[in-house]
Amino acid sequence: MEKTALFPQVKGILHGGDYNPEQWLDRPDILEEDIRLMKKAGINSATLGVFSWSVYEPVEGEFHFDWLQEIMDRLYENGIYTILATPSGARPAWLDAAYPEAMRVSAHNVRDHHGNRHNHCMSSPIYRKKTAVIDRKLAERFGSHPGLIMWHISNELGGECFCPLCAERFREYLADKFDHDIEKLNQAWWTTFWSHRYNSFDQIEPPFEHGERSIMGLNLEWKRFTSWNMNDFMRSEIDVLKEITPDIPVTANFMELFYGLNYRNLAKDLDVISWDSYPRFHNDYETFQDTMLWNAFQHALMRSLKPEKPFMLMESTPSLVNWHPFNKLKRPGVHKLACIQALACGSDTVQYFQWRKGRGSFEQFHGAVVDHNGSEDTRVFREVAEVGQALCRLSPVAGSLVRARAALLFDWDNRWAIHDAGALSNQTKKYEDTCMKIWQEFRRLGVEMDVVASDGVLDRYDVVVAPMLYMLQPGTASALRSFVEKGGQLLATYFTGYVDENQLCYLGGFPGNGLSELFGIVSEEIDTLYPSDRNGIRFEKGISGKIRTKEGVPEDTAVWEVKDYAEILRVKDAKVLGVYTGDFYQGTAAVTCKEYPVSREQTPSKCGRAYYVAARVGAGQMRPLFEKLLEDAGIRTRKLPENVDYCCRTGEEGVYEFYLNYGTAPVEVPDVHGTDLLTGEKVEDILGLGAYGVAVLQTAASPRHLE
Ligand code: GAL
Repeated sequence: MEKTALFPQVKGILHGGDYNPEQWLDRPDILEEDIRLMKKAGINSATLGVFSWSVYEPVEGEFHFDWLQEIMDRLYENGIYTILATPSGARPAWLDAAYPEAMRVSAHNVRDHHGNRHNHCMSSPIYRKKTAVIDRKLAERFGSHPGLIMWHISNELGGECFCPLCAERFREYLADKFDHDIEKLNQAWWTTFWSHRYNSFDQIEPPFEHGERSIMGLNLEWKRFTSWNMNDFMRSEIDVLKEITPDIPVTANFMELFYGLNYRNLAKDLDVISWDSYPRFHNDYETFQDTMLWNAFQHALMRSLKPEKPFMLMESTPSLVNWHPFNKLKRPGVHKLACIQALACGSDTVQYFQWRKGRGSFEQFHGAVVDHNGSEDTRVFREVAEVGQALCRLSPVAGSLVRARAALLFDWDNRWAIHDAGALSNQTKKYEDTCMKIWQEFRRLGVEMDVVASDGVLDRYDVVVAPMLYMLQPGTASALRSFVEKGGQLLATYFTGYVDENQLCYLGGFPGNGLSELFGIVSEEIDTLYPSDRNGIRFEKGISGKIRTKEGVPEDTAVWEVKDYAEILRVKDAKVLGVYTGDFYQGTAAVTCKEYPVSREQTPSKCGRAYYVAARVGAGQMRPLFEKLLEDAGIRTRKLPENVDYCCRTGEEGVYEFYLNYGTAPVEVPDVHGTDLLTGEKVEDILGLGAYGVAVLQTAASPRHLE
């Protein structure tokens, strides 16, 4: 298996975080102390310059980089590498005063005043020019610094701009997309509805709050454009850096399941994926395990953007944040647990926001490794230092990869389309939540899932689950068909294949574009239930054909509870597994399966299957069906004790099995073998984990899930 370490200079896992020495230039004593404390905490990297523009260039055209040179030199001399950010995430006051076009215009057509951050116009030529100037200067000055290991583009790119420059660029983008033929656009957007036809591209405006919002195609194309434009801005920064430092990798820090940008497109321009993780630990609306699995899903989404490399946990808090509705402290042990979880999911870094708390302004009370008291004798510092030691022991894990054989389909376009669709109920659509809950249920079975695009190559997977695939991309139907015909196990749900990539409904029966044939059903109607309505699905003959019993109850003949959505199906040539138990569609098909035996000569025992689950059912209740898919695909599940999570990475020197206890009660996990890298102890069968305990077993064997 290939070694895919992110940084040749760094041995093992990167441990560091955002460091803002520019806020402390008048305190050389503190800067000196930082180095001592970093070494004590096992820090080997610092992310510099994220918001340094007004110190680099205090007035237009006057540059000050010596301070950064000194800091980078000193860090490097002490074994600490630099990730250098471009400063475009926040602008100095002089820039907005001289060039107001750099400031965004809101959906209400109001120009921002100077201030805050992450709010520049992506189209503004002058902002692009000013950014290119400072990026070039940084690359020329620091590009060959031995401590520099990575460029970090801007910070948490996101948001929309409705200024005249963006509106004009939008029109150009549309003209390009629709071959300068307004009639093509009118047809794709169904503009004869409400008499909204356009005569020329000049008449098109972005979807202002007080403007045109009734054309689904326009709304969707605006989201695509905004994402494309942000990508284009990001690329303009990358181009400058790559011209001068082609060998320094670039990243941009992503955010959890971020709505506004199609990260799959941005990922193509980045060398490495990184993201900022801020779970709401210990909240009062879900279990701690749910919170951890929510975070695991985000990790998997990021990892799947570039599955051939480890990703980076670019930011996380060492203690608390200052922007959650309730800024609760992480309980003792949770810091280490969350850091090791990132590694378990495929990260090769543990990084923080931030190293030292600032004295003033908006983030003065945000958690940091070093608090205002400046001491190393704090709970938070000790826990960070403990993580530093653990990461040293976990060095062998660096460069290894998570190999999943199951995938969940999740598309940004589909997400945007579902949110905008005038259908179902806006209170219960919950596309993201539905995807996440299914992903989490697989994870509870000890099975890793990638999170991938619906029109991507699915060949590397044996099980694919596609929840609520309302919008089909041009390549989706053929990708799914070929997956099943090659012997894959596919599961789709209600609200699949209603519209094409322009949000025009398929004619001739849902799911469209040939999927109705693939599943052997037609969905004729969809019933939106009120929150307290319930229906059920009965499996007369069981899901798997074998009756499994759990405490004497035939598990897979149990009735599933249906809520929110129920489609009424006409079955063409699929087997009916489950039928509705109530309402006027009682007794009609609710869960079906169409089989695709694979030619015996090629793979004797393989049979592809296309399952359709026509109603919303809790992921936990669907578990027996998931188990059936996995069993048919030859993917082993694990019986894990309550609260225990299991993940696996594969590298050159073997396999790394991670066990994480998301509970405070000690647990024993059976059937564990190998040497725990954290303790050096051999485990033969029973692994004991204390409160929030973790273990990372190195074994020479092939990973269980790939057996
Ligand atoms: C991130 C951001 C950081 C810092 C952090 C606080 O979203 O990138 O600059 O603000 O949040 O949690």
